[in-house]
Parts: sequence; C-alpha cells; structure tokens
Amino acid sequence: MSQPAADRDLVSQKGSAQETIVILDFGSQYSQLIARRVREAHVYCELFRYDAPAEEVLALKPQGFILSGGPNSVYGPGAPQLPEYVLASGQPVLGICYGMQLLAHNLGGKVAPASRREYGPALLQITDLGCPLFQEVPFALQVWMSHGDRIEKLPSGFVVVAQTDNSPIAAMAHPGRRLFGLQFHPEVIHTPRGTDIIHNFLFQVCGLHGTWTPAHFVSQTVRSIRHQVGEGRVLCALSGGVDSAVVATLVHEAIGEQLTCIFVDHGLLRQNEATQVIQTFEREQGMRLVAVHAVEEYLAALTGVTEPEQKRRIIGEKFVRIFEAEAQRLGHFDFLAQGTIYPDVIESAGTGRPGAHRIKTHHNVGGLPDDMDLELVEPLHFLFKDEVRAVGHELGLPDEIIHRQPFPGPGLAVRILGEVTWQGLETLRAADAIFTEELAAEGLLRQQEERGTAQSFAVLLPVRSVGVMGDGRTYANVIALRSVTTDDFMTADWARLPYDLLAQVSNRIVNEVDGVNRVVYDVSSKPPATIEWE
Ligand code: XMP
Repeated sequence: MSQPAADRDLVSQKGSAQETIVILDFGSQYSQLIARRVREAHVYCELFRYDAPAEEVLALKPQGFILSGGPNSVYGPGAPQLPEYVLASGQPVLGICYGMQLLAHNLGGKVAPASRREYGPALLQITDLGCPLFQEVPFALQVWMSHGDRIEKLPSGFVVVAQTDNSPIAAMAHPGRRLFGLQFHPEVIHTPRGTDIIHNFLFQVCGLHGTWTPAHFVSQTVRSIRHQVGEGRVLCALSGGVDSAVVATLVHEAIGEQLTCIFVDHGLLRQNEATQVIQTFEREQGMRLVAVHAVEEYLAALTGVTEPEQKRRIIGEKFVRIFEAEAQRLGHFDFLAQGTIYPDVIESAGTGRPGAHRIKTHHNVGGLPDDMDLELVEPLHFLFKDEVRAVGHELGLPDEIIHRQPFPGPGLAVRILGEVTWQGLETLRAADAIFTEELAAEGLLRQQEERGTAQSFAVLLPVRSVGVMGDGRTYANVIALRSVTTDDFMTADWARLPYDLLAQVSNRIVNEVDGVNRVVYDVSSKPPATIEWE
C-alpha cells in the first residue's frame, strides 16, 4: 500500500499555521510521555528518532525542540549525537537528562560520571528564581531523577538554575539563546510540578499559545482529507471500536457520500452491538454503510476448532476475504481509511533499532487486505488514544462508543474456551450483558481517577459443574467474570470489585441465563495471566 498522502499534506499545512514542537528521541522510556505532556498543553508535537532526516524534521517548522533522555553516555562508543540543525535553527531547546548532557557536551561543557547513580526522588532547589522555566513553581520541589552521568562544567554562557544534593547542576540555562537543560524528568508523574515546567517551556520560552484543540484538529483534518481524496471514493471498515468509529465519522464529515463503510457482522459481537453500530452510523450519522451478515459463514468455519490461534487465523482470513469481495461488488475505490493511531506507529524502542525511522506504517491490527491497490487515509495517525476520544466527542459521537472498552478483533470467539457454537455465543452474550449492565449502573465501566475498570467481560468455560436449583440437581455451564485495571494493557491487575456487585451479577446470571449454574471471579493479574483467557 502507498504512504498516506494526507499525512504529508497535514505536515505541509502545519508548517504554515500550526504551533509545533519536535521531540527528538534518544532512547528514553519516557519519550512518548513527553509527547503526551506537550499535546495535553494543546501544542502539536511529533516524536522523531534522533537521527531522522533533517529535512523531514524541519519540514514541520518546529518552534522549539525537546531532547529526550536516553540510556547512553555522551562519550560512549556510538552514542547518539545531537543533530546539527537543532542548535543551528536558533529555536529554543529543552534538553532532558541525556538531552541536557548532549547540549553541554556540544557547547563546550564537561560531562562526567556521577560519584553515584541517582535514581528516584530528589529535592530540587531552584537557585535562579527569574528563570522562565520555573515561573510559578515553588523554589523547592520534588523531582524524579534517573541518570548516571552529570554535568561537571557548564558550557560558556550558561548558568546554574537549580540543584539537588547530588547534582550541583540539576538545571542549567542560557536565557539569551533560549537553551535549557534539566537533569531530572519533568514528564513523569513523580515530578508533580513537571507539567508546569513543560508548560513554561512551551508558553514562556517558545512563546506558544496552545491552539491545538480537537476543534482545530477536526477542521484542519477535514480540509486535508478533502484535499487528499478529491473526487475519489473511500472505503472504511467499521468495527464499532473507537478508532474506526472516529475515522469513519471524520472522513464522512469531510467527503460525505464519497465514503462507504463496510461492517461485517460475524456473530461474535456482544449483545446488541451490531444493531448499535448500524443505528449509530447509518441512521444517526447518515453514512453509506454496508452491513454484511456473515454469521453462518463464520460459525461454519469455526466448527470443531478449539485452538485459540487457529480461531484468530480463521476469523482474520475470513474478514479479509469478505471485505475484498464486498469492495469489489461495490465498484471502484481509490482510498482506504484506517484507524491507525500514534502509539501504533511510534518506534517503541527509540534508538535501539538500527535502520528504523520514526514511523513504521504498522497497518492496523484489524488485518485489512494488504494487496489491495488503495491509497491510505489515516487521519488519526498522529493522535494518542485520549485525543482520539476527544475528537470523537467533538464530532458528536455518543459516549457509549467513545468510551467503549477495548474488544478483541476475534470477539467472543476467544471468550468461549473451546469450540464456538451459536448456543455458547448466546449464553455468553446474555451473561456478559448482565455484568456490563451492573458495572455501568455503578459507574465502573470506565477507568477514571483510580476508580472503575479498563476492561471487563464474561468468559464461557468449557466445563460443567454440579449445582442445585429448586429441588433438582443441575449439571450446567460455568461463567468466569474478568475485570481488570490497567493503563497500557501490557500489564494489568484484577479489579477489586465490590462483593455486593459480584453477588448481584452472579445471582442475576444463574437466574436469568439458561444453562449456567455457577459464576467465578478471576483474580489473576497480568503477568502471569493475560487479560483474555485465550
Ligand atoms: P491479553 O489477553 O494479551 O490482551 O492480555 C491485551 C489486550 O489486547 C486485546 N486482545 C486482542 N485484540 N485481537 C485484538 O484486536 C486479538 O486477537 C486480541 N487478543 C487480545 C485484549 O482484549 C486486551 O485489551
């Protein structure tokens, strides 16, 4: 597939009007976090590998640079170097940790290993209250340190603006050239006033205003989609998930009838989900939506299959085949709109991977056909998940869609352990709907401020157990409830749901769902378990 032209287009538009910060990634685990902090301040930013081509970076016309931390020592063999264009640009620079050491090293200062590694909290004392980075910040504050090397001699023209017990030069500044270095990490939550320091860099030092809002993004992106697509026809696979919903709505806003969405109902969705997708997008949003009913086809393909990866493969392949056939039936298309988002495309290991550049076009996990000759439209390419939600909200999508919990592509097929049958699906859907309903009633379907759950669902186990109902013995199915809290889905903890809620859910399930006589709650964290059971 070809590169998304809309992105290039967005980039060129950005150059003229948009406030932009470039973050150069020197391999810190916190680089993405820096980008998030800047975006939260409504300033557009992009994260580049430190060795990205200069033209690519400068095409954005950045009004400031942030240099991330990194695991290297500036004197180490093969240590990432500061690209020349950064200082040559004359724009403000904020170097964090390794980024600060690079500034010092390049401008004639001296960097040396600290007598001991400093890792963890430290008390920062601001020694220059006039420094624009520390405006409205208390003169003593908690910061998070994580570094080996430190600055021993300042480059000429720099002054010390803050210190800690172990780092006499914990922050340095050359106010005339608008160059700043921080030995600590302002981007992490363990530096509680770190956000203020980043804001000061953006607003006091770079003179930005924070104009990058969801409304701004929508109007700019609508223009750029129109420009990219012209009179062409666009195809989009709608899954009901947040990303595809926002993409479809955004593209529809831009080009209306030129967009056709395909929704494949494979029968593996949750209660009422298929109806809700059709209702929202076709009736309420007025989109041209083709809903393909493929339930029997999927069930036939899954008959007798019990191995989870084989289920995934069958479902993925079938989706591609159906999508292709439908697209062909619907006539000629020029573009494919996809909900790829920024975390999918950022090189996660930063500097560690030779030859890799900032972005790898990681075609969306939905597994769309790879060999269709369509140009990509990926308007969410540069957005984080919370920004996608904010855009969805701006576009008027309902909360149930915007705040929907993640749902795996293979759907309920990986929540029915063993063979997938229609009966099993109906049992699971009914139990899952009860669990969801009760969680929603308690406001626990969203994870917010230490409360709620990131993902909650029911699982149908392939065993039966003995029970007693009324006067009779039963021998029926077991439903497991799974509910986790997590920020990134890479690790997760089981949610400490209230006992009364679990009791109510269990009671309702055995009473209302035929063929279930026992409910268990999964108290495993990830690792060692995964969130899904298959
Ligand atoms: P695990 O089970 O690996 O899940 O802890 C982590 C997150 O990924 C989702 N998941 C999937 N999503 N296709 C998807 O699109 C899949 O095959 C798949 N398997 C797991 C899971 O729901 C959780 O949010």
